[in-house]
Amino acid sequence: MHTHFQTTQSHADPDVIDFGAGHPGDALLPLTLMQAAAAQRLALPDASLLQYGLEQGDGYFRHALAAFLSRRYAAPIDMDHLFVSSGASQALDLICTLYTQPGDVIFVEEPTYFLALRIFADHRLKVTPIATDAQGLDIDALEAALANQRPKLLYIIPTHQNPSGATLPLERRQRLVALSMQHNFLIVADEVYHLLSYAAAPPPALATFADSGTVLGLGSFSKILAPGLRLGWVQAAPQHMTRLYTSGLLDSGGGLNPFTSALVRVVLEEGWEDAYLDKLHATYRQRIAALDAALQAELGDRVHYLTPAGGYFFWLRLPDALDSETLLQRAAAYKVSFRPGVRFSGCGGLRNYMRLSFAFYEDAQLREGVRRLRTALDSLPASV
Ligand SMILES: Cc1ncc(COP(=O)(O)O)c(C=O)c1O
Repeated sequence: MHTHFQTTQSHADPDVIDFGAGHPGDALLPLTLMQAAAAQRLALPDASLLQYGLEQGDGYFRHALAAFLSRRYAAPIDMDHLFVSSGASQALDLICTLYTQPGDVIFVEEPTYFLALRIFADHRLKVTPIATDAQGLDIDALEAALANQRPKLLYIIPTHQNPSGATLPLERRQRLVALSMQHNFLIVADEVYHLLSYAAAPPPALATFADSGTVLGLGSFSKILAPGLRLGWVQAAPQHMTRLYTSGLLDSGGGLNPFTSALVRVVLEEGWEDAYLDKLHATYRQRIAALDAALQAELGDRVHYLTPAGGYFFWLRLPDALDSETLLQRAAAYKVSFRPGVRFSGCGGLRNYMRLSFAFYEDAQLREGVRRLRTALDSLPASV
């Protein structure tokens, strides 16, 4: 529910532990860092950040972003192949506007990010879910689907997927890109968790295959700095850059978020982003360990999952006969919540799955939340 004097999107009951919240808690947000960046930039006698911005995005910011990404992706990234967005969601919406017509078929993973499904519904696209396994998109299933349908685009979260946590191996990435060239569809790779890898380095970002001309890579500062910044980027070949920045939206309103770009440029150039990422990695690594231990102790015999190596989520499989929406209703009485699997399905399936996020709460609350979940599960009649 929305009230007048509310600033943030989520308005959680403080008594409820909501594992559904897929964003960091306020204590983890970089307030002092942004205060320093703003003080430094706003002290300069340069009002350009208050002007309509260059359509492709502030060149100085894109230069700093290209240097940062080249280092973190361990691959050379050209600032001319970056377009500044106001987040992955906005980029996805713009790509749908420019590259699709109502009624077009698009392929998504099963499961996929449930709010991307909302954006596709806004554009009246026909969504075909493609099977995944523990290593992400099943490329054989994709090939089989391509024999019957011609998608305009395929939407994929290749690294630390939301919700499954799966990461697509290099060999599958290569096959996927080859198929996109052969069958002439675009890959929209939502890589917002790529830089949140807590163990080994992930395979190369799909954005690094942009030279194929079929890949549009989406990145965002929402997960690596702060969602309120509404700042992200698209990495793609020059023909796509032109398509994006010559759109009516950019022509009328100028480049997206020039003010925020100027502040985040300071964060990148000063090396503060790297330091903040180190802090996030250490925090989330510890939370994964805490949640993993609690799940094993309380629910070890009733749920199956792969411990995530990055991102924000645990994706739990419950016994086949158990509908996680039934559990969700019961959980309200125990003041715990989560996202039921069906929300992530393109076809009303995945009813015996649930997604838990560890981004919002600290270790002790994560443990308490799992205790509440166990009590809620215990309270269900044995037949469900
Ligand atoms: C896979 C995925 N894409 C996009 C977003 C939203 O990104 P942004 O805040 O950059 O619009 C999220 C946030 O939960 C996400 O999980």
